[in-house]
Amino acid sequence: MEIKKIISIWSILVFSILAIGNRFATAEEPSHVEAMAAATEKFKINIKGTFASNCSWCHGKFGMKAGKGPQLAGTELTLEQTIERISNGKSGMMPPYLKVLGKEKVEALANYIKMLPGQK
Ligand code: HEC
Repeated sequence: MEIKKIISIWSILVFSILAIGNRFATAEEPSHVEAMAAATEKFKINIKGTFASNCSWCHGKFGMKAGKGPQLAGTELTLEQTIERISNGKSGMMPPYLKVLGKEKVEALANYIKMLPGQK
């Protein structure tokens, strides 16, 4: 009887610690989700799909993490420079996308990147 009580108190304790810990973890980690929703709504373009099939293999977590390319969230480039970079790429580092995606998708992606958390 006593042992059962102790076990149930312990499991409640452990469960609460896990639940609280989890809440902090998700609150601290900035996410692309809001920017994705806002940019998709504004440009009526499938930004998630476009990013996933063209950019994700070098820019991780929809721009939130570095991969072969840098993290895009918090970029120091202006909107115009971001559009320019996606359009023309960078020789030997990143392919140009203007011809592949067209102006509208490139602009939507650039706006999405500038909406990501960490922007000054
Ligand atoms: C083959 C890998 C690769 C792919 C695919 C790729 N990039 Fe890049 N990207 C890079 C690299 C590498 C850099 C850094 C170049 C440099 O040093 O200036 C970069 C830089 C950038 C920058 C400038 C970031 C900054 O702050 O200087 C932007 C914006 C960007 N990429 C957006 C995109 C978008 C949007 C896509 C998809 C349409 C994409 N990239 C696809 C490799 C890639």
